[in-house]
Amino acid sequence: MSSAWKKYVLWFAQEHVDFRQAEIASLLRLWNLKMNTSPDHKPENPFWIVELNGDEAARKLASRSMSLRCIFELWTHSNQLSTFHEQLKGYIQSNRTALSPLFSKDRSFKVTVETYNKHFTQPEKVAKIETLQYLPVEGPVNLKSPDVHFWYIEFWGLDPMDIPEQPSDVLFGKWVVDGRREMINEISLKKRKFIGNTSMDPQLSLLMANQGLAKKGDVVYDPFVGSGSLLVAAAKFGAYVLGTDIDYMTVHGKSKPTRVNQKVRDADESIYANLKQYGCEGQFLDVLVSDFSRSIWKSDFLFDSIITDPPYGIREATERIEFKTQKRSTCLNEGSVHYPSTSPYQFDQLYRDLMNFSARYLKLRGRLVCWFPILRKDFTPDMLPRHKCLQLVANSVQPLTVYSARRLLTYEKISDREEDMDSYELSQLMIDNFRQRYMKTVLQNSGTRKERRLALRNVGREEAMKRGKKLDVTDGKWKYPKAQESGDTTADK
Ligand SMILES: C[S@@+](CC[C@H](N)C(=O)[O-])C[C@H]1O[C@@H](n2cnc3c(N)ncnc32)[C@H](O)[C@@H]1O
Repeated sequence: MSSAWKKYVLWFAQEHVDFRQAEIASLLRLWNLKMNTSPDHKPENPFWIVELNGDEAARKLASRSMSLRCIFELWTHSNQLSTFHEQLKGYIQSNRTALSPLFSKDRSFKVTVETYNKHFTQPEKVAKIETLQYLPVEGPVNLKSPDVHFWYIEFWGLDPMDIPEQPSDVLFGKWVVDGRREMINEISLKKRKFIGNTSMDPQLSLLMANQGLAKKGDVVYDPFVGSGSLLVAAAKFGAYVLGTDIDYMTVHGKSKPTRVNQKVRDADESIYANLKQYGCEGQFLDVLVSDFSRSIWKSDFLFDSIITDPPYGIREATERIEFKTQKRSTCLNEGSVHYPSTSPYQFDQLYRDLMNFSARYLKLRGRLVCWFPILRKDFTPDMLPRHKCLQLVANSVQPLTVYSARRLLTYEKISDREEDMDSYELSQLMIDNFRQRYMKTVLQNSGTRKERRLALRNVGREEAMKRGKKLDVTDGKWKYPKAQESGDTTADK
């Protein structure tokens, strides 16, 4: 049964602002919902007035949202305090029959006053509630768990340095549903069993799973799985998850502990243990040690989504197993261990592999969700990777420093034409070694102490590699061959 269109306010948390519209668009798609919006809405405004097809649609939309604080049914709003009250009275009058159950004796209620970008004391807020005396409520007040929760909101703009004389919008409505922001705490890294250096923040992990439309029964793959944060998020939404990573120690939960005060890892730290901790071990398929540049997948296996945070060599090394064209005479004896040598995984090559792989191994309409690093000053949208089989459907920015950012890219597979499978393209500016340009910018712009130290270390390491410095496979440290031993043995993580 279809309900009538009603006005609602989507009230967003003021965090990861650039992700909210992309998330709502993905959730509308996931639940097959329609929503009407005004073209005048500014995305940075935390209150988005929309039309939805009834409360059930609002509840579905909020049921997975990380960006939403809540949704309330909008009764009235005005940019003039003077006209607001008349409008609200008019609304109540003309909808008397429909609203009367909300005001009845047996329904407890509460009115909450919220002001945005301007602080009001508790007595000032109470005074605002008193201006609403005309609400025909008959039931008792219940501040803890009211049957009906009214919200009165004054929006005083976005700029704390330029607060207007009067609120730019006054809104009143009835609460319908909260978003799912409690999930962010539920999977907090602070209490997670197994974390690594680059474990993805829970809120972003959940946003990524929403962008990937991960849902019950889907198969979601992370080819750069690390400590498996993205698997946790997708599994929380009911998807079956699997991942691969080149780092044996990480995949086996044996890498150096990253928590302050933890010297050794517990024996049971692993990605599986994380999923178990959150009650979704049934969603775990497996994690394998594998170099993404060398596909291990059967050609007829398709994923519902690929959700990943590839390394781009800023905080962790990008490497792949070296491919030797000439067979060398080997000195391996039977039973001795072979450590394959690795070489840097070039930025362009990594994204080429990721996009060509996604074109081939995603189901039609399946999604690739991945981060892409940029330098803020020279970014233009045409720098993003392109592929004939993958359509860019969302692109949200997370600023990292004054000069760097990363973009969360969401691609949808729109074609499986064999001739387009390897049609990846990247602008020349990005190909021209993002990492070197990044490090140079950090150094030139002074950055934070930590960033400068890291940049210097990276530049030093690159220089040393040019001079023939090698990674020693026995202890994982960078060294010169014996004859030219040097003091610098720092490995960049
Ligand atoms: C940014 S981290 C991923 C972090 C992960 N999302 C998490 O929450 O822990 C990138 C990962 O890619 C892995 N990696 C680097 N080169 C790789 C390659 N050639 N193939 C597969 N994994 C690789 C690194 O070992 C690292 O764990």
